[in-house]
Amino acid sequence: MKKIFIVGNWKCNPVTLAEAKELFDLIAKGAENIKDAEVIICPPFLYLSHLQNGNIKLGAQDCFYEEKGAFTGEISAVMIKNMGAEYVILGHSERRKYQQETDDIIKRKIDSALRAGLIPIVCIDNLSQLENLKGINGLLIAYEPFHCIGNGKACDPKKAEKMRILIEKEIGKGVSILYGGSVNSQNAPHYVKAAGFFGLLVGGASLKAEEFVKIANSLTFS
Ligand code: PGA
Repeated sequence: MKKIFIVGNWKCNPVTLAEAKELFDLIAKGAENIKDAEVIICPPFLYLSHLQNGNIKLGAQDCFYEEKGAFTGEISAVMIKNMGAEYVILGHSERRKYQQETDDIIKRKIDSALRAGLIPIVCIDNLSQLENLKGINGLLIAYEPFHCIGNGKACDPKKAEKMRILIEKEIGKGVSILYGGSVNSQNAPHYVKAAGFFGLLVGGASLKAEEFVKIANSLTFS
């Protein structure tokens, strides 16, 4: 059976390292007994090297498409990998919106992440954003309908399931597809157990340790 992925996207939170450590430790403790799922936390870059726990994998929320050089302010995939992270979220709708990231920029970032040995978690909200992803091995896709993010209005699981099936048709069954958008511990099982997603990308609820751990536990199959 394919693995289930539970990814916490902390976005631009929290504002101190002490808070980040506290939240991370609480999640790690709560995730101690989760065996059949991969729990991944994606904090702001700055905290990556400070968060360590055997139960949790780390991911970044973005990377640059060049490895190194005169690119002020950028952080490369290799640097992220060297900080101990194994995953990187790419193409998140907030980056598409606020940083004007295009499908072509995202594709370059995916290539650089794969070269560095990171697993990209590529966010899409429609089928046209899949075009550049066809034939690429070694990534995860997160279906995140834009209008469902951060507002408590999660997608109807039946609609999400239809989209999952369409994505799978386009991209092949080998790629794990996650759902994201206002996930909480009540609706989480609808997407994974009922609608056939292989995991969740969780934003707001990943900042509440107890709720995030509940989500993770609601997906274990034993
Ligand atoms: P949300 O965010 O769970 O707060 O809706 C999801 C995401 O943006 O990845």
